[in-house]
Amino acid sequence: MLRVIATIFVIIIQQLVNANNYYNNATLQKYGKNVCTIEEVFYDGNNDLPTMYREHGLTLDNRQKQTCGHITLSRNECCEGFKQLKGLPGCTIVKSPNNMLETIKLLGANEFARYAMQCGLFDILEIGGPYTLFVPTDEAFAKMDKSLKLALVSRKLTTSELIKYHVVPYRLITHNMTSNTLLETLNDGLHLRFNKHFNQVETINCVKLIRKNRIAKNGVVHLINTVLNPHIYSNRNLVQIINQNTELTIFSKMIETSRMHQSLKETFQTYTVLAPIDNVLRKLPNNQLSRILDDEKLSKEFILKHLLPTTICLSAITEGQIIKTLGDDHSIKFNCDALNSATTQGYCIKSDLKLTFNGILYAVNFDLSNYNEGKTVLQIMNDMGLTEFLQIVNIAGLAQTFDTKNMLTVFAPSNQAIKRQYLRLQCVQNTFGVEGQLLNLQHKVGFNGIVHLTNQVLMPSTISVHDIISKNNSFSIFMRAVNLLDILPATSPEFCGNHNTYFIPTNNAFKKLGIDRLIWIFNNPLYMRTILHNHQVERVLSTKLLKKHWQYEIQTKNKTIILSHRGNKLMVNNVEVIEADLMTTNGIVHVVDDLILPQY
Ligand SMILES: *[C@@H]1O[C@H](CO)[C@@H](O)[C@H](O)[C@H]1NC(C)=O
Ligand SMILES: *[C@@H]1O[C@H](CO)[C@@H](O)[C@H](O)[C@H]1NC(C)=O
Ligand SMILES: *[C@@H]1O[C@H](CO)[C@@H](O)[C@H](O)[C@H]1NC(C)=O
Ligand SMILES: *[C@@H]1O[C@H](CO)[C@@H](O)[C@H](O)[C@H]1NC(C)=O
Repeated sequence: MLRVIATIFVIIIQQLVNANNYYNNATLQKYGKNVCTIEEVFYDGNNDLPTMYREHGLTLDNRQKQTCGHITLSRNECCEGFKQLKGLPGCTIVKSPNNMLETIKLLGANEFARYAMQCGLFDILEIGGPYTLFVPTDEAFAKMDKSLKLALVSRKLTTSELIKYHVVPYRLITHNMTSNTLLETLNDGLHLRFNKHFNQVETINCVKLIRKNRIAKNGVVHLINTVLNPHIYSNRNLVQIINQNTELTIFSKMIETSRMHQSLKETFQTYTVLAPIDNVLRKLPNNQLSRILDDEKLSKEFILKHLLPTTICLSAITEGQIIKTLGDDHSIKFNCDALNSATTQGYCIKSDLKLTFNGILYAVNFDLSNYNEGKTVLQIMNDMGLTEFLQIVNIAGLAQTFDTKNMLTVFAPSNQAIKRQYLRLQCVQNTFGVEGQLLNLQHKVGFNGIVHLTNQVLMPSTISVHDIISKNNSFSIFMRAVNLLDILPATSPEFCGNHNTYFIPTNNAFKKLGIDRLIWIFNNPLYMRTILHNHQVERVLSTKLLKKHWQYEIQTKNKTIILSHRGNKLMVNNVEVIEADLMTTNGIVHVVDDLILPQY
């Protein structure tokens, strides 16, 4: 009989070994068969004693030597169920299995054994079965949660109920289980949630399994580092649990407004919800909060930013991790602080988690000041520190305009931009500009519009192309030509500018032709018109929108010209632009010191 049992165990253990991916040729050669790696994490202030163990199925080479910044040592020992035959590599002797009580004691978990025996669970440990036990270490009992202790003292929870919550009435080996499995315990059908995390950490109710799969005659034992609290699990769904939490009344209202009840009640998807508590949400400016609470779309966006499509157990975080939320383009960074707490964005997540039927709930105290949902453009400009522009807005009596529900797009200049000096949109390929200034499209979306930050002040121009030419003696010859032909057009503002670009030649440029040629041109208006048309483009071309290493083919009113850079100089064909980007009411002016002559 005993031999039959022993043979069965050889088969089971052999299956485990085969199932494990880490057991590769290299480790086989180095350590021999059935060697397991135990990682011990040493936390500060704890002289020499490791306070966390993490077991890997089999030997891993080159594992990280730090866990959340704490020194992590690895050592190898025989995997559970095996021992070494003297003189041979690896662990090749299969031990005869113990009963669960003996297995627990071998793991050093005497408190659990004591409690279990005290409340008459002798048959579970010694003769009954098969069972799976999640056994807390003695240290775990010593640092048991206050609320749990209180429940025991006040007899809201009996020791028997507590112990039974650690017992599942069938045999469970972690290799067999998939993440998010709910396991029914002996405590009145209350469940445990099993999870596997990407870093191979496995948890039960978000408590780390530190030694796994100790196979006993009458069951399986897993060692854990925290006493499991039956009160953190509920068979209800996330919405029900949020609704009954007195610290989450505002978040609960948002769920209602956003009409997301249904998806948060789903049974086929597991979420992690990081729900900001009322105290934090109340710190949002009052009108911002009420706008969110009044608006289905805004509430939904807000909720989605606090919803993770996976199960995140804080205890399983071993290094900084960025996790995408269900919000658009939004993620949350988790850092690890200490053994059982994690932070996101520098704020501690209280580990008072609730495990529900369809996910995990954390009540959090995030800082939400960078949340733009429901803010007006005025508030956003305030947050962005655009004090100079806001002053102008106030002086101009426009604060009301920016603080209403109207949709606006604001090209807000930065403070530095205003302190130096200078609203039309331009585009060259997919580069955009306003008033000749490159537009930084990293925008912030507010409730009533969009704020784009530009690095220059945008002032409506007050002078026209005509003003520039007529008021500067350097352009007198060009002016005479323009008057002769009457060619400066009136234009209307349109998207991407039906305004013009003028390459205006200086007198010097004309004089380079020689006096005879100049007189000839002035006597041939048709040719003069061609020249002038060659200096005019029927769109606004700001040099700030041109990329240095590209060449741009531009259609003038006559021929095609090429705009390019030669070093820092802008060239039109072979002609240098000596002054660029003079913005006017009806176009942009670049000054050239040579004529751009039509080439036939
Ligand atoms: C590694 O394992 C494979 C199959 O398990 C075997 O064919 C191969 O010979 C092994 N290589 C070494 C170096 O042991
Ligand atoms: C566990 O895995 C083994 C081997 O893969 C399989 O034979 C057994 O049926 C599995 N048990 C459960 C409960 O899934
Ligand atoms: C006239 O134009 C020339 C050439 O662009 C420029 O250097 C000069 O500063 C201008 N003069 C005035 C008074 O604007
Ligand atoms: C450019 O000017 C020449 C000479 O006046 C004329 O023949 C030609 O049609 C013009 N081309 C365009 C595209 O206007």
